[in-house]
Amino acid sequence: MTNLKAVAMAEPMLATPDAPTFYFIGVTTSQSSSRRMFPLWMQALERPDVLLAGIDLEIHADPDRYRQVVAHIRREPLALGALVTTHKIDLLAAARDLFDELGPFAQTTQEVSSIAKENGRLIGRATDPVAGGLSLDAILGQDYFARAGGHLLLLGAGGSAVALTLRLIQKTRPAERPQRIVVVNRSPARLARLQQMVEQSNKGPIQFDYIQNNVPQRNDELLAALPPASVVINATGMGKDTPGSPLTDDALFPYNGVVWELNYRGALDFMRQAQAQQAARNLTIADGWDYFVHGWSQVISHVLHVQIDPPLFARLSQLATAARTASGH
Ligand SMILES: NC(=O)c1ccc[n+]([C@@H]2O[C@H](COP(=O)([O-])OP(=O)(O)OC[C@H]3O[C@@H](n4cnc5c(N)ncnc54)[C@H](OP(=O)(O)O)[C@@H]3O)[C@@H](O)[C@H]2O)c1
Repeated sequence: MTNLKAVAMAEPMLATPDAPTFYFIGVTTSQSSSRRMFPLWMQALERPDVLLAGIDLEIHADPDRYRQVVAHIRREPLALGALVTTHKIDLLAAARDLFDELGPFAQTTQEVSSIAKENGRLIGRATDPVAGGLSLDAILGQDYFARAGGHLLLLGAGGSAVALTLRLIQKTRPAERPQRIVVVNRSPARLARLQQMVEQSNKGPIQFDYIQNNVPQRNDELLAALPPASVVINATGMGKDTPGSPLTDDALFPYNGVVWELNYRGALDFMRQAQAQQAARNLTIADGWDYFVHGWSQVISHVLHVQIDPPLFARLSQLATAARTASGH
């Protein structure tokens, strides 16, 4: 693993890179499976010269910190670009003027998960609508909502919640859309932001309920009110970025329901709560592994300007799984 640079640079100033560098902007980047996966992917893509450098920032970091990071990538010729997790909304809000262009999803969702350079111009894109959408489609299978009829409870209204909502409201066939989506968030600002995006893009008849709440017992009540076969997604980051779960241990998941924890590492308390009643409630449970692999492959494709076709994706996915097994996540 020669091309793995020391990760997690939490110090105020970023060092000038002395080799082509791909940045990974997150909260606890050194614990990600990407540390092991990245060198394998670079070998497969014939770019073993590219280093991975993690930048750990606290959640809702100071806007100046985001600007420093984006300005560094913009300025340094050997800084090739970055994958952004968790800070996708805050980073764009703080540093929008430092981008030369935003992709269409970045404009709609007001977030950036991919920072790439094209002919010296800095391009920000949002990859979650596609990466999260592909993962959700795989978890649910075709025409899930027509077959099963449940609602969707989205715990959290941040970047990934916005992306998944956009994906669902853009579905043209009613069989692929839930009748109702309940979105819960701690702060009113994120809820308002998601609501605004929905009101601009929702052409279909999905009913939305927006609930500002961070009390787990209230989330338990919302869960209990769902019809059978509903889909419940933990998009709060609790169980990885912050401790705990948005639900209490007494929460009862919908019978025949689908439970998706967006993360694949950390304590994953929410997923453990679902696993404890998997057999009794006949639950389908998924973690965020496929989402992770889709997201990384998209950003790598933007930053390194490589086409990742299905056979190459299959190869990268295989390498990612090998790296995951080795890291024990
Ligand atoms: N597997 C993958 O590849 C993948 C891809 C995307 C995301 N993820 C993971 O999914 C999680 C969410 O990502 P994101 O980008 O959407 O993050 P984000 O933009 O930070 O959104 C998280 C949202 O959850 C809200 N929240 C936190 N605790 C809450 C609680 N107890 N009750 C209600 N709302 C609460 C936050 O509200 P405030 O506004 O009050 O902070 C925030 O709006 C992260 O942990 C991320 O790592 C994984």
